[in-house]
Amino acid sequence: MVTPSPLSVLVTGGGSGIGRGVALGLARRGAALALCGRRPERLEAVCAEAREQGALRAVPLPADLAEDDGRACLLARATDALGGPPTVLIHNAALLTGGPLASRDERALEEAVCANLLAPLEITRRWLPAAPRGGTLVLVASMTALAPLPGASVYSATKAALRAFGMALAYEVTPRGVHVLTVFPPATATEMTRGMARSAAGRRYPMADAERVGERMAAAIAAGRTGDLNLMSGGERILAGLHRLFPAAARALLHARRGDFLDAVTPAGEEPRP
Ligand SMILES: NC(=O)c1ccc[n+]([C@@H]2O[C@H](COP(=O)([O-])OP(=O)(O)OC[C@H]3O[C@@H](n4cnc5c(N)ncnc54)[C@H](OP(=O)(O)O)[C@@H]3O)[C@@H](O)[C@H]2O)c1
Repeated sequence: MVTPSPLSVLVTGGGSGIGRGVALGLARRGAALALCGRRPERLEAVCAEAREQGALRAVPLPADLAEDDGRACLLARATDALGGPPTVLIHNAALLTGGPLASRDERALEEAVCANLLAPLEITRRWLPAAPRGGTLVLVASMTALAPLPGASVYSATKAALRAFGMALAYEVTPRGVHVLTVFPPATATEMTRGMARSAAGRRYPMADAERVGERMAAAIAAGRTGDLNLMSGGERILAGLHRLFPAAARALLHARRGDFLDAVTPAGEEPRP
């Protein structure tokens, strides 16, 4: 019997939330991990947890993906740390940049576009020539790619573009044996969604547990899933489906609720209404 070789994985945004969850899920499956994020102490802590939970290796790679150098050097650093190019590349890092567009400064827009979109594009371009047959590219998208939300125009734009990127790229890479998996997580309790628990409208958004979401992603990756991995809640599926089939009705619904969404995604201490 042939024993499958351990997965060798680069996870961006691996120091918190869903990225931490998928890293730990893959650690339990004996993967070698390289974790990227801006905060070294968070990465060190998750690497220590990953080693405890069975990772073959877990290496922190602090980098800012909004910076040219951070994106340019990451894959080479991961290849050194893992002893070869990663067999699984997980683009999970992202910034929400929520609130009315006019109140965001240009640097914040640039950071979000770089972290959420340019980093996956550039790093994937560097990875493909070295990607092994059977390698998997994982793109962490969002329901906002299917149903863009009020107060999240930049985030929704980057996630819709990331989804389109994965769909188009699959035509190029599938014949070479490289898989593309696009993940649609449910609303999940993480640093990114912290504000939603304190929505000024007093609404509580049901939130999934980040470790459970990460475990489901890890199981799908280990099983070689490709295409879309839809982990969205029932309500999110309905909204996405409504948007696809009856876009005018979906827009009217979201327009009526726009104040709630703006409240929920506007950073604490800022005026949510434009
Ligand atoms: N939570 C949800 O409800 C939800 C729903 C759908 C999709 N998602 C997606 O799930 C993914 C993970 O988000 P999350 O909810 O787990 O939030 P999170 O805990 O805030 O994770 C985002 C990660 O990205 C990293 N990151 C952000 N900017 C970066 C940069 N410039 N360079 C390097 N790393 C950067 C952050 O680390 P540092 O701050 O240390 O850099 C952090 O670890 C994202 O793609 C998000 O869009 C989340």
